[in-house]
Amino acid sequence: MTSRIGSVLVTGIGELATVDGTGPEGLGLRHDAAVLVEDGLVAWAGAPSAAPAADRRVDVGGRAVVPGFVDSHAHLVFAGDRSAEFAARMAGQRYDGGGIATTVAATRVATDDELDGLVAARVAEMRAQGTTTVEIKSGYGLTVADEVRALRIAGRHTRETTFLGAHVVPAGADRSAYVAQVAGPMLAAAAAYARWVDVFCEPGSAHAFDADEARTVLTAGAAAGLGLRVHGNQLGPGPGVRLAVELGAASVDHCTFLERADVDALVGAAATTTATLLPGVEYSTRSPYPDAAALLRAGVSLALATDCNPGTCFSSSMPWVMALAVREMGLTPAQALVAATAGGARALRRTDVGRVVVGARADLTVLEAPSYLHLAYRPGVPIARALDL
Ligand code: NIG
Ligand code: FE
Repeated sequence: MTSRIGSVLVTGIGELATVDGTGPEGLGLRHDAAVLVEDGLVAWAGAPSAAPAADRRVDVGGRAVVPGFVDSHAHLVFAGDRSAEFAARMAGQRYDGGGIATTVAATRVATDDELDGLVAARVAEMRAQGTTTVEIKSGYGLTVADEVRALRIAGRHTRETTFLGAHVVPAGADRSAYVAQVAGPMLAAAAAYARWVDVFCEPGSAHAFDADEARTVLTAGAAAGLGLRVHGNQLGPGPGVRLAVELGAASVDHCTFLERADVDALVGAAATTTATLLPGVEYSTRSPYPDAAALLRAGVSLALATDCNPGTCFSSSMPWVMALAVREMGLTPAQALVAATAGGARALRRTDVGRVVVGARADLTVLEAPSYLHLAYRPGVPIARALDL
């Protein structure tokens, strides 16, 4: 983590992408730059010759620096393995959410220490790839005790905790009784440990929730003081995106199958609701990639995230997600970087991360490269790491 006390001057930055909204594509690019960090916050950025004095100096040797990535969608509290399910999908099987039950069973029998260790390792893996803010969902417990446990563990690793009791209807449970439990006693217990509530909304799914069920959970969550997020339009066209917009959700995630009315709703709600695209899921489920470039042109607020989970995308790599978004979704490398930093921050309603600006957290990611362009140019090569100051 960045140091909390004292000042550090980060020098030798060959290229600094501040993502401050200025310059071509809003990247705020500077060449040959320095950043002053005071008590963990950005205090100044500019030319090295004008740099203020500092207690310490860290020289990054001409490398590029970008804001730490903001991964606004991840399911890290889980145990077990579903690699065989991935192999079956690559051989043609469709994803329908049924495999979630496998992870629920494995997660319930794991000890607190085991789960905490797994989450710690996954967060460390993310940080080693340049991610400095991560949202973590529950959703593999599906009982009051197991969901609260997942959120307590998640809360040791991030303040962006999300209650996802409405992930799927547990095997053997009565659908309407389960929705009432999620919106009632489970939410009441989980709310103390969660900042957000999320629902997997897919009409006609045996596992996920329809619009009415999703609305019940989301409105109860809002009444309990939680912000709203939605898994929507992943498996097919549906009401998830419009419901998220109607209820003022901070983010609607996946957006794989969008209709004209969905895009119009997202454009109208761009100040409130971000569309978070998860290209690792399209990769890992053989789904079509949504046209991110068209969404940006239309005026949609866009973020990129991993969705790191054992079913639909077991990758924690934001650089890989950016590379996919460039190659498969039509984004420029700059648009992908903005969506993975400031976009993720917007999806979490955070103004203190995702940009290297005065007053923001000094979450800096260093690239083993001269330019941010290498994030998409060198996919699969571990060039990004969060800078420890
Ligand atoms: O975001 N769609 C629902 N939930 C996860 C997948 C969870 C799983 O398959 O374990 C997702 O894709
Ligand atoms: Fe997800």
